[in-house]
Amino acid sequence: MSHYHLACNKCALEHPPSMETLACISCGAPLDVRYVASAEIGGTGRIPAMPFHTESPSMTLGEGDTPVVPLEAVGRSLGLYNPMAKLEYLNPTGSFKDRGTAAMMSVAKEFGIEAIAEDSSGNAGASVAAYAAKAGIEAHIFAPASAPQAKMQQIGVYGAHTHAIDGPREAATDAAMAYCREQGLVYASHNLSPFFLEGTKTFAYEVARQMGDALPDHIVVPVGNGSLFIGAWKGFQELIAAGALDRAPKMHAIQAEAVMPIAAAFAGRGWTPRAGTATIAGGIAVGAPPRKRQVLDVLQASGGVSVAVSEPSIESWHATMAQSEGIYCEPTSAAAFAGLELLLGAGHVAPNDRVLVAVTGFGLKDAPPTSSG
Ligand SMILES: Cc1ncc(COP(=O)(O)O)c(C=O)c1O
Ligand SMILES: [Zn+2]
Repeated sequence: MSHYHLACNKCALEHPPSMETLACISCGAPLDVRYVASAEIGGTGRIPAMPFHTESPSMTLGEGDTPVVPLEAVGRSLGLYNPMAKLEYLNPTGSFKDRGTAAMMSVAKEFGIEAIAEDSSGNAGASVAAYAAKAGIEAHIFAPASAPQAKMQQIGVYGAHTHAIDGPREAATDAAMAYCREQGLVYASHNLSPFFLEGTKTFAYEVARQMGDALPDHIVVPVGNGSLFIGAWKGFQELIAAGALDRAPKMHAIQAEAVMPIAAAFAGRGWTPRAGTATIAGGIAVGAPPRKRQVLDVLQASGGVSVAVSEPSIESWHATMAQSEGIYCEPTSAAAFAGLELLLGAGHVAPNDRVLVAVTGFGLKDAPPTSSG
């Protein structure tokens, strides 16, 4: 018997471990990893339980253990005491996705999978391409034709097959799923895979270790599908269950005004995509996130809020972060700082609160907005 199963996060139905089951066979909701006996698998509060066996070589490229740095200039300009950033762009392929991919591809290797397909706005594709190369797994990455050139090049250099798909982000998802059905490939969707979330939960374990008694009161994350957001929350819950923490930070989900299904739902409003609206924060341009309900659950459980930010504010923070802190992040990551500014203005964050912002992706991978010069 395995040390975990896959549990529906809506109706709790259990499913056996598999890379191929991406939704509940009864109600269609996404699945999560549930460990059978956490005490036996390292639930010490220091080492996260993982859905693979330690005797199998895990697929690592040295992801995680990203630094936490103080942001003095941001603090001065916002009137915020000592905000901090966790530099997720220092992961091996330049984004936080490597945390999730490392776990997902370790599971794929353990299951003996030889070929996968995945759809992505760019960063997850680059990450999957890299770990697939290391694992000797053939990878097909489907991305919107509008995805940044640097990301597509990165995917290609890792030796993955790239498929540029015209139309919105969702068209790449449909194309990847159709290709998997036709070719008999495993659909390794980072948005649906329960294993991906097991990898992103390491973010919380590191925050607890790095910040200790000064655990942040707030964590601010740019959210599209919510893989870092949900995974980090899971990590904090595990740490609390293991007695290693007595509280978790409030988790705030930042979206762009152009694509804001979660921020709208949080405010109790409906949202439908409008033709012609686009955002430079391509990583969070997800119109119909399959784990939306889970993101809303985390917002409620943690006491966090979701806000949507304007394009000019994203552009401005993109430049400000580089010019005042030396942090060259993606526009998607800059959205988190625009969100922090709104949270402070609305009183959700107080000047003396401890705030940690996840800087999720590296600026070199995405063309800078023209106004940043
Ligand atoms: C740089 C960056 N930040 C944040 C996100 C949002 O991640 P998620 O869709 O898992 O919420 C992405 C997703 O592509 C990204 O590339
Ligand atoms: Zn179900």
